[in-house]
Amino acid sequence: MPSRIERFDRVARLAPPAVVAGLFAGCAGEYPQTTFRPVTDFGALLNAIFADVFWWTMLVMVIVFGVLAYVVVRFRARPGAAPPRKVYGHTGLEMAWTLGPAFIVTFMLVPTIQGIFQTYQAPSEGTLVVEAVGHQWWWEFRYPQYEIVTANELHLPVGRPIEVRLSSADVLHNFWVPRLGGKRYNYPVPAGPAEGRPDWNRLVFTVSEAGVYSGQCAEYCGLSHALMRMRVVAQSTEDFEAWMQEMRTPPAPAAGSLAAQGQEIFLRSTCIACHAIEGTPAQGQIGPNLTNLGERWAVGAGVLDNTPANLARWIRNPQAVKPGALMPGTQEGAAGMPPTNLSQDEVEAVAAYLESL
Ligand code: CUA
Repeated sequence: MPSRIERFDRVARLAPPAVVAGLFAGCAGEYPQTTFRPVTDFGALLNAIFADVFWWTMLVMVIVFGVLAYVVVRFRARPGAAPPRKVYGHTGLEMAWTLGPAFIVTFMLVPTIQGIFQTYQAPSEGTLVVEAVGHQWWWEFRYPQYEIVTANELHLPVGRPIEVRLSSADVLHNFWVPRLGGKRYNYPVPAGPAEGRPDWNRLVFTVSEAGVYSGQCAEYCGLSHALMRMRVVAQSTEDFEAWMQEMRTPPAPAAGSLAAQGQEIFLRSTCIACHAIEGTPAQGQIGPNLTNLGERWAVGAGVLDNTPANLARWIRNPQAVKPGALMPGTQEGAAGMPPTNLSQDEVEAVAAYLESL
């Protein structure tokens, strides 16, 4: 039987490869929410400030550990040697450790403050305005210049300045799409014109690269905070305009299809009390706008992949998927609203309709 020391020795021998493996694990994977590959001017600015601070701290680390190693070796206990002399009131040393950090802090402070002012600059002419409204627990995106409203999936054109106006319909949320930069708070102020309103937070940036960037709410906002995701689709101006066109003129389901049946059920159910779908009488404003829902990547703000089966599951019992969701299920109500009482067949028809959008 190995002694305690032998066992400790065995574990100690495994430690260095385990640490190295752990470090290298950081080099694997896609990391869709990295801040190190920014795709906006705003993100690049933050990343540059981060790099600046990082290298200053590395310099401090090298100096501190260098001096420490020197002291440990140079002044180690030797048999018969007298204890090292102690230093008191050394003006030169005291000047060095006061002025050194002051110098470093100045070098970090100046670009940081410059950066803060830069990111709060008023947006320029031709800016696309998006209102990002946080809700428990989903995102509403409004394009007031184009009268388009969508949810959870934000489409943005590449190369055009964008102003995201941040607000909330209930509690504090925080808009964070790491590759775009940020994050910044959504305060519970009503959406609307931003002119002359100091209570708005805004993000101003230009996206330089087409792609799909994921993000999430970054402030604890209740039970399903961790399930409040979003996705940004940055696309060319032509693709963005095509998307806007689709949002204005969504397709209607073919007559006699399951989707058409689903539309009829949707429009006569309580669904329309909360949801709007462009081109139909459904104009509810409380829940997410469902126009072209079939094109979105997910159901329930990133909780489930967007498939007919998942959508049906969501309609049947949203609370089972997202605890605390304000949408009533078929059997159970929510937030003071009664259950929808849709049958299994009706749920499947409604799911088929929404997927057809
Ligand atoms: Cu919204 Cu956390």
